[in-house]
Amino acid sequence: MGVEVAVEGLTKSFGSQNIWRDVSLTLPAGEVNALLGPSGTGKSVFLKTLIGLLHPEQGSVIIDGTDIVQCSAKELYEIRKLFGVLFQDGALFGSMTLYDNIAFPLREHTKKNEDEIRRIVMDKVELVGLAGAEDKLPGEISGGMRKRAGLARALVLDPEIILCDEPDSGLDPVRTAYISQLLIDINAEIDATILIVTHNINIARTIPDNIGMLFRKELVMFGPREVLLTSDQPVVKQFLSGDRFGPIGMSEEKDEAVAAAEAAMQAAGIAGGGTKDDFSEVIPQVQPNPDMPVRQAAIRHRQNVLNIINDLPAGAQAAIRASIADEDRRAAESPEHSATLVAMANHQFDYPGGVAVDQYGTDTEVVSSAGGATEVIETPTQVITADYEADTDTIVIDDRTEEVTTVTREDGTRE
Ligand SMILES: Nc1ncnc2c1ncn2[C@@H]1O[C@H](COP(=O)(O)OP(=O)(O)O)[C@@H](O)[C@H]1O
Ligand SMILES: [Mg+2]
Repeated sequence: MGVEVAVEGLTKSFGSQNIWRDVSLTLPAGEVNALLGPSGTGKSVFLKTLIGLLHPEQGSVIIDGTDIVQCSAKELYEIRKLFGVLFQDGALFGSMTLYDNIAFPLREHTKKNEDEIRRIVMDKVELVGLAGAEDKLPGEISGGMRKRAGLARALVLDPEIILCDEPDSGLDPVRTAYISQLLIDINAEIDATILIVTHNINIARTIPDNIGMLFRKELVMFGPREVLLTSDQPVVKQFLSGDRFGPIGMSEEKDEAVAAAEAAMQAAGIAGGGTKDDFSEVIPQVQPNPDMPVRQAAIRHRQNVLNIINDLPAGAQAAIRASIADEDRRAAESPEHSATLVAMANHQFDYPGGVAVDQYGTDTEVVSSAGGATEVIETPTQVITADYEADTDTIVIDDRTEEVTTVTREDGTRE
C-alpha cells in the first residue's frame, strides 16, 4: 500500500516573497488527491517541497515516519526512492530515446542488470500505451506521448507516492481523459498515494478522492472531493466555473472598486465567460478499467468519509450520499465495469439515508443505523434485520431468508 504524506504548518518563501504559509493536509495512504489553484499560487513549489527539492522555512512533511524537512541528506535520498514524479513538461532528456529515458532511474538507483531493466521498462511502456515507440526521441513524438513516457519513467521504481504536475497541460480533452484513466488504473493496480496538481476542472471533478485548493498564499480547503465541489466559497465557485467575475483576478486579488464594477456588469447581464455548470451535482468518479483490480483506496476512502460525514457541510453530506448510492448502483448493475464496492458494502449499513448493496447485489435503502439492538432496513422488495447483540443479520430478500454471522468491531461497526 502507498504511504501517507502528512504535511503540517508548512511555509515557503523565496527571499522576501512568501509563496504560501501554514499549509496542513494529509494525503491518505493510497488515495488519489488533487491540488487546485490559480497559476502562480505555488502548486509546483508545493510539489517540489514534498520531495525535498525545495526547503520550507517552517513546518514538517512526515513520510513513513521521517520528517523530510529535518532529516539528513542520506535519509532524504532513501525517502525519495518512494516517489515517482511526473514533472510538468515530462522533463525527458532530449538526446535519449524513450527507452533510455524510462530506464534512467533504474540505472541510476538500482543494481539491476540490463535484462531485468528491459523487462521492467517494457512492462511500463506497455502500461502507458507506448509499445513500439520506445526507440523514438522525445522530439519525435507528440506532447501526449511525452507525458505518458514521463509517467512510465515515474513508475519504474514501483513508487508508493506518485506526484503529477499538471498531467493535462498541453493535452486535448480526450488525451487528458486517457491519462486520467491511466492514473486511476495505476492506483487500482499498485495502490500508490497520488497527488495531481492541476487546474483542469474535469480532472478535479472526476478523478480524485480528495481535493484541496491553494489561493492567496493559503490552503483554502482540503478534504473529500464533494466538499470542494459543493463549496459556497466565492473563490472556489469562481475557480470551478472559470469565470472572470469573482475574487480571483488576472494577477492578484481584486480591490473593492473592481468588485463593485463587476457586480454592476453582472447586474446588467454581462457574462464573465464562465460555465454555468452546477458543481453541487457531483458527477461520477472515474473507475478502473474492467481488467483492473478493485481500488482498495476507494474502499478505505469511503470508510474514512463516512467516519467524518456528520462534521461536513450539508451540501457535501448530500453529495457524498448521492455519490455512494450512485457508485453502489453501478457496482450492482455491472460489477465488471466498476471498481465494485460490493465487497465492503456487505453488512456495512452504517450510513442512514445512503444505499448499501447486499451480497445479492441489490440496492438497499438504509433507514436507520443508530445504535439499538435491532434495526430494520426496508426497500419495496426486501427487509433486512440486523441484530447487533446476537451478531447475526437476518436477511430477507423476497422469498429467501438467510442468517449471516457478522463481527462487531470495537468501534461498533460491523464486518
Ligand atoms: N526557484 C524559485 N526561486 C524563486 N521563485 C520561485 C522559484 N520557483 C517558483 N518561484 C515563484 O513561486 C511562485 C509560485 O510558482 P509555481 O509553484 O510555479 O506556481 P504554480 O505551479 O501554482 O503555477 C511564482 O511566483 C514563482 O515565480
Ligand atoms: Mg506549476
